[in-house]
Amino acid sequence: MTIVASPKTHPSIVLPAPSSPPVLLQAATHTPNPNEALIKVTWTCSTPLDLHRSDGNLAISSFPFHLGTAFAGTVISLWLRPTRWPTTSLNDQPLKEGDKVFGFVSDGNEREAGFQEYVTVPVHKVSKLPANVPYGLKEAVTIPTNLVTAFHALTADLGLRLPWPKPKSFRGGDKRVLIWGGASSVGLYTIQVLKYWGYTNVIAVASGKHHEELRRLGARVCFDYRNSRVLEEIERYLDKEDGSRQGGPIVGARIPYFVDCIGSRDGTLRPLSEIAERGSKVAVMLPVINVHAAEGRRPVFAADEHNVEGVVWRDGVEVKGVRTLNYEENMFFREKLQPVIIPALLAQGAIQPNRARVVEGATLLERAHNALQLLREQSPSGERLVWRVSEDER
Ligand SMILES: NC(=O)c1ccc[n+]([C@@H]2O[C@H](COP(=O)([O-])OP(=O)(O)OC[C@H]3O[C@@H](n4cnc5c(N)ncnc54)[C@H](OP(=O)(O)O)[C@@H]3O)[C@@H](O)[C@H]2O)c1
Repeated sequence: MTIVASPKTHPSIVLPAPSSPPVLLQAATHTPNPNEALIKVTWTCSTPLDLHRSDGNLAISSFPFHLGTAFAGTVISLWLRPTRWPTTSLNDQPLKEGDKVFGFVSDGNEREAGFQEYVTVPVHKVSKLPANVPYGLKEAVTIPTNLVTAFHALTADLGLRLPWPKPKSFRGGDKRVLIWGGASSVGLYTIQVLKYWGYTNVIAVASGKHHEELRRLGARVCFDYRNSRVLEEIERYLDKEDGSRQGGPIVGARIPYFVDCIGSRDGTLRPLSEIAERGSKVAVMLPVINVHAAEGRRPVFAADEHNVEGVVWRDGVEVKGVRTLNYEENMFFREKLQPVIIPALLAQGAIQPNRARVVEGATLLERAHNALQLLREQSPSGERLVWRVSEDER
């Protein structure tokens, strides 16, 4: 391990106590243990989870709670066992100091949470930015959290196959997958993953202004959830498609797979409960939000995704709450998803980052607060909020 000078402490954004807004704390800089990297963070991004943590104290067992599920920056030092870094033909150099990297990490973990100037991260949570992509760390930081979410929801919750390396002959096929919230960050990555693995019958639900982009990324057809007749339009589309279908009637659910990328009781679960039918699987991004946070209003979450007030599923619908922080339970994804699969997909141009919307502010804390305020206002639309962490790096 090479030791490069790094400060003993550094600024980190934390929630200090229940119902208190984020503050800046001087946190310890941790020297890497075996198979960990110390990374100087240039960019992070804010996701709705930060708002759920901050305004709703969602699933926080102790304070101070270190915020941030993604980082992008430069490897300062690392301790890598020689056999540890999985090299492939697309990723043939082991991780090294100076590499530009990004990753999805667990917030609440003081070593790795993303809203701090230095993170110390196990190398299986690090992706190298491929040299050939036409974007930098600012855009790359939008990728890891919800690209990992897309893999986890499609495989662990819906049971769809995403074999890696993808065999040349593999085709996901024409089973329908409906993505409600296609323009959310989760939706944008899920649609792209399905396209890469050859799932050709993706239905996306999003505001009309995003439809062209969603079709380009892989959706076969789009519907606008802001249209009060959206459910009737989907039904009409299914009737028409299935009526003209060669090879006899559909067996089982007309839409066997759903991804609810939003998890809103009134905005998504209720409408989905009207179109899911016996045999449908519905992966719901947790938490289920009964009341969204707003200025001066704490959010309210459903305690159990299977029993949400006012949402009645038909018999035979399987509802699965998505918990991406558990993605490491799949040992293959634990080892390969961030170090190998994600960089390879980016290098091939199979995945485009979300549009990065830069949140300004004079200080680290101000940028964190400004991003939370934009999330309270539900301002992001087809984009990810990103902000600078350390000032002295590009
Ligand atoms: N449990 C987990 O593992 C997990 C993982 C990732 C995310 N999540 C959760 O999933 C949710 C989404 O996360 P995100 O990062 O993707 O959020 P995001 O990108 O910030 O979501 C913003 C988008 O939501 C869309 N939207 C809002 N209400 C909608 C509705 N009723 N129907 C369709 N689209 C709607 C908007 O679409 P338009 O622009 O089209 O209006 C907007 O583009 C958050 O609550 C997050 O915490 C959970």
